[in-house]
Amino acid sequence: MTQLELTHITQSYREAGSRLLAIQDVSLSVAAGEFVTIIGPSGCGKSTLLEVIAGLQQPDSGTIILKGESLSNRLGRTAYMPQQDALLPWRTVLNNVILGQEVGRGHRRQAKQRAQELLPLFGLEGFAHSFPTQLSGGMRQRAALLRTFLMGKDILLLDEPFGALDAITRHELQAWLLQVWGHFGYTIVFVTHDVEEAITLSDRVIVLSTRPGHVVMEVAVPFARPRDADAMRYSPEMTALETQLYQALRHR
Ligand SMILES: Nc1ncnc2c1ncn2[C@@H]1O[C@H](COP(=O)(O)OP(=O)(O)OP(=O)(O)O)[C@@H](O)[C@H]1O
Ligand SMILES: [Mg+2]
Repeated sequence: MTQLELTHITQSYREAGSRLLAIQDVSLSVAAGEFVTIIGPSGCGKSTLLEVIAGLQQPDSGTIILKGESLSNRLGRTAYMPQQDALLPWRTVLNNVILGQEVGRGHRRQAKQRAQELLPLFGLEGFAHSFPTQLSGGMRQRAALLRTFLMGKDILLLDEPFGALDAITRHELQAWLLQVWGHFGYTIVFVTHDVEEAITLSDRVIVLSTRPGHVVMEVAVPFARPRDADAMRYSPEMTALETQLYQALRHR
């Protein structure tokens, strides 16, 4: 079943009387439980596209169908994790991760209980009462991901969640995310600059051109699941796919 369907989405920003075209005529669909990654050069409109899907922006033209419904108000239908982790420095980990429910007027006590249960899975056991400044970069990202998961939606929109991390932490979190995704069976739309990350994680990779971003390539990732990221990394299939994607990114 299709969870998300974008048809001919175009979006621009208006500033000081001029118009900046960010994405142009993007069509894509994502099936239930699928992990789809969008890659593309910096500034090509990836974050804009996620914001449009989340309902933070309305497209200039095109349609978005979420679970069979065409909605102009899509806010709250998906769980969106912005590019910056946006943890509130004055709140503890626990109070940060329940923010989604608090804003959505959920039950605070239940939210806290659920968060406490999930802290070990997110590698944050014992840190419920720590503040964001007391966490490592990887832990902050896991806390931001836990907050996104706790929004209780089955479509997750993740904007470069591992972008600022060193390679080893990034690899660890990729393996961990695959495990968590396998556990919950979410539908994920993931944005990254990193070609290897896109292949490691996804069922399908969609390549956008330079701005205005439009789809230049879409490939199905042939690796079976569950995946062994270390074995994949050095395989000839990985190299071939990476080459194909880099070529698409270059001929933009
Ligand atoms: N709020 C905004 N107002 C005006 N222009 C914007 C706004 N947000 C983004 N843009 C512009 O839209 C274009 C696409 O930006 P966007 O953030 O979507 O790119 P991106 O692909 O996510 O880039 P990156 O990989 O660097 O995160 C850029 O030229 C950017 O300057
Ligand atoms: Mg971005």
